Amino acid sequence: MTTLVTGATGNVGRQVIAQLLDASDTAVRAVTRNPAAAGLPDGVVAVPADLAEPESLDGCLRGVDAVFLMWPLHSGEALPAVLDVIKRHAHRVVFLGSGGVRDLTMDQQQELIAQSGLEWTAIRPSTFAVNALWWAEQIRAGDVVRGVYGELGGRFTGHLRHDDDVAEAGGHLRCRGRYGGASTYFPAMGGRPRRRLRVNSVTVILVAATGFPIVSNGQLPM
Ligand SMILES: NC(=O)c1ccc[n+]([C@@H]2O[C@H](COP(=O)([O-])OP(=O)(O)OC[C@H]3O[C@@H](n4cnc5c(N)ncnc54)[C@H](OP(=O)(O)O)[C@@H]3O)[C@@H](O)[C@H]2O)c1
Repeated sequence: MTTLVTGATGNVGRQVIAQLLDASDTAVRAVTRNPAAAGLPDGVVAVPADLAEPESLDGCLRGVDAVFLMWPLHSGEALPAVLDVIKRHAHRVVFLGSGGVRDLTMDQQQELIAQSGLEWTAIRPSTFAVNALWWAEQIRAGDVVRGVYGELGGRFTGHLRHDDDVAEAGGHLRCRGRYGGASTYFPAMGGRPRRRLRVNSVTVILVAATGFPIVSNGQLPM
């Protein structure tokens, strides 16, 4: 089978690709707006397309069975047209939505996926642990970390998800295991991710790793 991965150069997309390659039962095609700069693993074919221009996907989808679709745009306007193009070729989609879409809630995004006629899995993870890298510049520059989770002892008690756990959607792309080929809702990586951290633990780890106190100046949230 052949799988198309969008967001292929991103945190989750790269992990999805790694997991698909490990499984070695699918050819992997990777969407990027700039194949020359993609730096993808050997054996992965980088194809140029832009999700804001749905028809640009058509050529990438020939012979594709399943699509990992992440939504990087702040508008969901193009999502129905993207699903129409996918439907012309593939039969299954694993969708990673975004809370950053201004005109579609996560529920509305998922509804579009469910109505698409494709077999589907929707992934709704909580915040990614990799977001901590956003603080790198602030840490290098001094000892003040501005960010919603930067305050040592802050009130946020949710769990951060490792992007590798989010990418376990790779198994759904291959239509194996208990999900079979059926339409499935897959909420928030279940209750027991393999690796998870409380936000306050991340701050403590950063303090230990950098060797100096990290404090918030209280300019929250971002
Ligand atoms: N961070 C969080 O806490 C969190 C939580 C829940 C959900 N999410 C969602 O998870 C998704 C994946 O996040 P991530 O961290 O893996 O992303 P990321 O590392 O920021 O990567 C963004 C990816 O989107 C692609 N992209 C951007 N604009 C595009 C366009 N117009 N057409 C096609 N591709 C485009 C980029 O590809 P090229 O530049 O190569 O074209 C890149 O591969 C996002 O939709 C995010 O909103 C994030």
